[in-house]
Amino acid sequence: MMQDQRAELEWRDGAVPVSTRFDDPYFSLDNGLAETRHVFLDGNDLPARFRNGFHIAELGFGTGLNFLTAWAAWRAAGIEGRLYFTSFEAFPMAQAAMEKALAAFPEVADLAARLVAVGGGSAEFEDATLTVIQGDARETLPKWDGKADAWFLDGFSPAKNPELWGANLMEEVGRHTVPAGTAATYTAAGFVRRGLEAAGFAVTRTPGFGRKRHMTRGVLE
Ligand SMILES: C[S@@+](CC[C@H](N)C(=O)[O-])C[C@H]1O[C@@H](n2cnc3c(N)ncnc32)[C@H](O)[C@@H]1O
Repeated sequence: MMQDQRAELEWRDGAVPVSTRFDDPYFSLDNGLAETRHVFLDGNDLPARFRNGFHIAELGFGTGLNFLTAWAAWRAAGIEGRLYFTSFEAFPMAQAAMEKALAAFPEVADLAARLVAVGGGSAEFEDATLTVIQGDARETLPKWDGKADAWFLDGFSPAKNPELWGANLMEEVGRHTVPAGTAATYTAAGFVRRGLEAAGFAVTRTPGFGRKRHMTRGVLE
């Protein structure tokens, strides 16, 4: 049982959180915000698909950077209504660590302060509903009664965190996606692509961010 365990961290260059449990950084050492925009926003055709009630779901909440990036894009797009963002996280980060990690991204400083102020978890903001579902996603996602328009698949690297990329979990991702909904991830690992295909996604390999040659996008058929 992995529930109720906290993230275990060390800091690279005093600024980038690295999980000692998974031996992997939480976001790109080069430019976490630009990578999030490229992989998860562009990879899901956002902000173009945003509409009132749009629902993003994520595997791996981590520092909350992806949520903040999506929320900032939602605001910049000027959509009337509410964004829903549901994230699955087994090892929540302490509020102080989240604050320290997010300090590297002045572009989202105002929204980061809002997130930290509510304790870094589920919250109802004026234009966004954030739900962080704590526990191992392999146990919590099958029980979820929602469906996402877009998925951010953001576990640690598949080699180091295979639990978050398995075929059964990808099947659950597919089951919790609206028709023609999408999924995006920074990895191009073959077993992840095959898992998404088996779950019903039409999968394409597209240029990755920075030094990563490829990433993966899927559209539910
Ligand atoms: C690369 S980090 C996510 C980064 C995050 N999206 C952000 O914006 O900072 C991967 C996350 O997946 C979480 N994780 C790893 N295994 C998990 C599991 N079995 N169930 C749920 N979350 C898991 C880790 O605790 C970590 O927070």
